[in-house]
Amino acid sequence: MSPCPLHHPRLFDLLRRNFLSLDTCYRLADGRVTRRHYLDSAASTLALGCARAVADELLQHYANTHSTLHFSARIASRAYDWAHGQALKFVRADPDRYTAFFAGSGCTAPLNRLARVLAAQRPERSVALVSLMEHHANDLPHRKHAGRVVPIPLTGAAPALGTVDLTVLERLLEQHRGRVNYVAVSAASNVTGIINPVHDIAALAHAHGAWVVVDASQHLAHAPLPISDTGALERELDAVAFSGHKLYAPGSPGGAIVRRTLLEGGEPDEVGGGMVEEVHPSDYRVTARFPDREEAGTPNLLGAVQLGAALNALQRVGMERIHAAEQTLLRRLLAELASVPGARIYGGFDLERTPRLGTVAFNLDGLEHGLVAAVLNDYHNVAVRNGCFCAHPYVRELLKPELWELDLDPDAGDAAAMLKPWQGMVRASLGLYTVDEDIDALLAGIRDLLARSDDYRALYVIDADGDFHHRTFHAPAETLFDPEMALDRALARLSATGGVL
Ligand SMILES: Cc1ncc(COP(=O)(O)O)c(C=O)c1O
Repeated sequence: MSPCPLHHPRLFDLLRRNFLSLDTCYRLADGRVTRRHYLDSAASTLALGCARAVADELLQHYANTHSTLHFSARIASRAYDWAHGQALKFVRADPDRYTAFFAGSGCTAPLNRLARVLAAQRPERSVALVSLMEHHANDLPHRKHAGRVVPIPLTGAAPALGTVDLTVLERLLEQHRGRVNYVAVSAASNVTGIINPVHDIAALAHAHGAWVVVDASQHLAHAPLPISDTGALERELDAVAFSGHKLYAPGSPGGAIVRRTLLEGGEPDEVGGGMVEEVHPSDYRVTARFPDREEAGTPNLLGAVQLGAALNALQRVGMERIHAAEQTLLRRLLAELASVPGARIYGGFDLERTPRLGTVAFNLDGLEHGLVAAVLNDYHNVAVRNGCFCAHPYVRELLKPELWELDLDPDAGDAAAMLKPWQGMVRASLGLYTVDEDIDALLAGIRDLLARSDDYRALYVIDADGDFHHRTFHAPAETLFDPEMALDRALARLSATGGVL
């Protein structure tokens, strides 16, 4: 008898291969058709098949969660509650003291919400301390809604910057004593993968009456992140935001796990159907129930349930196991990349001193990041991201020594255009499905490019945005996938089967 899938000893291996699109192939500039090596998981991860299957099965019962009586409505509401429960469980948050809510299509929505709500909760505390490492999503909302944002510097020196500097953080908390509303920090960087000591940060913040808002969108899929590392209350994170599309559930919402007391009292930030007890022409009464009061309007039921299923599947494998496997690949990638002449890795990369997750940003001496990314794609089918990764202040800080070396006059009219191709990096990021073969392809592509960089450069033109375009090889997106043609195919299947799905 085959083992029950719930306890399959090889569940980890089964899941790693259960991603949709692992066999996607493209024709390359040299005419070869090869498998895509997807190393852009920090942007969005691929879809976990079993989680998608749960959402597809739910479609058989699809209904609105705000309907209550009929069979399908009850099924939908229960499944949606289950998804919230999975989020709380994933970080081991006490459901009596924390709530999980879904919003938007990634963590940008909950982070904006938190910035607005926390500012309204304690207007007398008008300072937010925000790390220099942040993605714009955990920076600009605080700039917009907190009275004043003070940046928290990082340890080390560029290009080997480290984590948030706890000594300086403590000094800033002292300096702004009684005025710091919260500290906002990412659990792991989307540029370097560097992990911040978020529980130490929480303890420091709490000792000064400040809350801590953690952007965990680059962390949750890669390593365990409990709400408190030791169980001590003072080390508990107050708010944890995340993106479902970075957790193997494309199409799912953003989410947040938040200490209830941060949301209680005031009126919820968004109002509408589903979050009120009674509405009269002159007034209305908001429900006290969580998460209902945080989720006005019809929710993204299917996405949330798909996300809940992905979280559940990851927990069955165990995040420690997933983390350990990724670290093995990461060590190899860092070691081999560091040995490539002319490769520069950003952020401290001694994993003992500066723990990181599976995201590596690098440049190759004398080669624009746009050229590197284009050649890796067009000739090696390696999908990486290049640019500043929506973390401009951090990337500029990491690049400072190199940009200085360029010796450009910042006041010259064309300085910005000349700087553009050099102001950025290439980023390779791993997911549960990444295998050695993907790392091989990346490293082979880099070595090939370095060996023939002049030949490759001659094949490309650069546009005003700093993007590189092949002179003769074009693969327009609509020739690779066209939604209307996909619909044509679906309709053809429909007519062939006489309308039976
Ligand atoms: C660290 C980090 N924070 C926030 C975001 C924004 O997430 P989303 O675009 O899903 O809202 C990203 C996305 O790349 C990210 O990497």
